[in-house]
Amino acid sequence: MAVSLATHIGSCALRSVFMNASGVHCTTQEELKNLSANAAVGAVVSKSCTHEYRAGNPAPRYYENHLGSINSMGLPNEGYRYYADYAAAQVSRFPQVPYIVSVAALYLEENLHIISELSDIEGIAALELNLSCPNLPDKPLIAYHYENTRSLLDLVSRHCRKPLGLKLPPYFDMPDFVRYAELFSRYDIHFITSINSIPNGLIVDIESESVTIKPKNGLGGLGGAYIKPTTLANVRRFYELMPPQVAIIGCGGIENGTDVFEHILCGAAAVQIGTQLMKEGTAVFARLEKELSDCMERKGYRCIDDFKGKLKVL
Ligand code: DHB
Repeated sequence: MAVSLATHIGSCALRSVFMNASGVHCTTQEELKNLSANAAVGAVVSKSCTHEYRAGNPAPRYYENHLGSINSMGLPNEGYRYYADYAAAQVSRFPQVPYIVSVAALYLEENLHIISELSDIEGIAALELNLSCPNLPDKPLIAYHYENTRSLLDLVSRHCRKPLGLKLPPYFDMPDFVRYAELFSRYDIHFITSINSIPNGLIVDIESESVTIKPKNGLGGLGGAYIKPTTLANVRRFYELMPPQVAIIGCGGIENGTDVFEHILCGAAAVQIGTQLMKEGTAVFARLEKELSDCMERKGYRCIDDFKGKLKVL
């Protein structure tokens, strides 16, 4: 029995559920091309971009162990025009792979300008507005501030003429899921990507008795197996609370095909791979495709909709 891993994000059809997580293997056009050329990839997402080039934080700024990763990259990126320029190559060479540009919600005026400019570019399928970058010293994480988020979305929704998605931080408190879902439901949001890294964790190196990354005295965003249960809770709650036309993209803690199955069972229409893509490189996608297909076959499922969101409760 052949299974199909095809899916939809709003009106956008994807040949497979797999994407990279923004930030991983997507800062240069070479890396983006490399993802698009991978037959197991359904869509590609750019590094979160700002108006101008940024070098990012001093190294070491990424560290991984068997449980996951910590990062404080500080938004190194080539500036939004570079990611806009890549769209032409994408449509001509990989028209079947939607290209999503991630926009870092850093400064309001600059954001609105970026979003407005990117809205006119053919070859960009959607924008992922990053409301959750945890690594900017002295900048609060936007989506933990309700009023800031509301006023930002009021303005962005007026400037954006592409399908818009939101990259969210993890929420932990039950009332937060409800009030943020209610806020996001007021706008024409096509997808929610849950979650960004868990902000401001600390991983210690026992041999040197030191922190493992340099910025912010070692504090950074956590990814990998550390965060899977938190991710699944966020995928599940937003799947339950958002209007049914809003796709949930699960991001966090995927190492193997059964992790992908869990995300989809909780309600994800697609998944993004971060830490495991860093660890394994782009070969991860073919492996996950095989493992998810095997898992679905074993259970007698032929397509994603056969089990998407069908998590049982006791
Ligand atoms: C960075 C990290 C993030 O989690 C994010 O959403 C955006 C940028 C970074 O440090 O570069």
